[in-house]
Amino acid sequence: MGVIARYREHLPVGPSTPEVDLNEGSTPLVPSRNIGRALGLKHLYFKYEGLNPTGSFKDRGMVVAVAKALEAGSKVLMCASTGNTSASMAAYAARMGVRAIVVVPSGEIALNKLSQALMYGAKVVTLRGNFDSALETVRDLANRYPVALMNSINPNRIEGQKTAAFEVVDALGDAPDYLLLPVGNAGNITAYWKGFREYQSAGKATRLPRMIGAQAEGAAPIVSGHAIPNPTTVASAIRIGNPASWEGATTARDDSGGMIAAVSDTEILSAQIRLASSEGLFAEPASAAPLALLFRLVRDGKIEKDATAVVVLTGSGLKDPDAALKNVEPPIELDGDARTLAKVLKL
Ligand code: F0G
Repeated sequence: MGVIARYREHLPVGPSTPEVDLNEGSTPLVPSRNIGRALGLKHLYFKYEGLNPTGSFKDRGMVVAVAKALEAGSKVLMCASTGNTSASMAAYAARMGVRAIVVVPSGEIALNKLSQALMYGAKVVTLRGNFDSALETVRDLANRYPVALMNSINPNRIEGQKTAAFEVVDALGDAPDYLLLPVGNAGNITAYWKGFREYQSAGKATRLPRMIGAQAEGAAPIVSGHAIPNPTTVASAIRIGNPASWEGATTARDDSGGMIAAVSDTEILSAQIRLASSEGLFAEPASAAPLALLFRLVRDGKIEKDATAVVVLTGSGLKDPDAALKNVEPPIELDGDARTLAKVLKL
């Protein structure tokens, strides 16, 4: 059962909204086995969003946005993307039989994300420039032509994405003390904060978490307080210099007593490897940014040891193997029998 069916009463859907469902959501909140212990944190969890149908959290918002676009009679869906939004939109468009057009910055997105959009049958346009200019172009086009804009400036995306906050509360019995997540275009931090507040108002949670956002050093407009014209980072998902939901992010940060801080690419990649090799959770580089930030906050004594902390792993590591492979030892190539193999492996 997908998020619309599970959280219907909290979503802007009615009897005339078409049924759209790919079994998105219901992702596990995995307790840390090794990292928490190493950090001295008793209650560390990972919200493993890579297990959504297209491999990222984007499916939660996309299912609602697509249902609402179909309800309004849209025939063509369009988005700009660093890869995951386009993969998700293309999948739901394929399922519902509507046209999908995705615009991505050329040479800037992970190959597997591009292959998803192409396989789901979207028309893919690669535009010279970065994500921010692609989004500007798509917004401009959507103002003049009959296409439904599916970026997170579409409020139905935020509505669907807030269901992840509901699931965290449903799993823990209340809101955690800290919710850590990567911040790119800033829709997700906006959505989580909305979800936590709504669940509290509905009496399902007694408190609110501090929202901790992580940006990459070379793409940290919110941290630096100004737009970044040429953002750079290995975490291509969050290579964004002028987030559309900037205000939503700063509101979540300030109203929750949280923070948004930047981590380096080196910290991101080492957190990614540590997560995979010590927890068995392979997440893409952007998803490792909040874990890198957690390491720093614990080191600086900014997180109490008995606090409950949830790190959102926004996308699967399988999305971007190139980024991950740069950082691990290559496989051993060998021509030999069991004895030579055993010798090389020091068995
Ligand atoms: N993590 C992943 C894996 C993402 O793909 C994104 C955003 C984010 C984090 C940041 O979320 O934008 O809501 O702050 N990806 C968008 C895309 C921009 O086009 O797929 P955000």
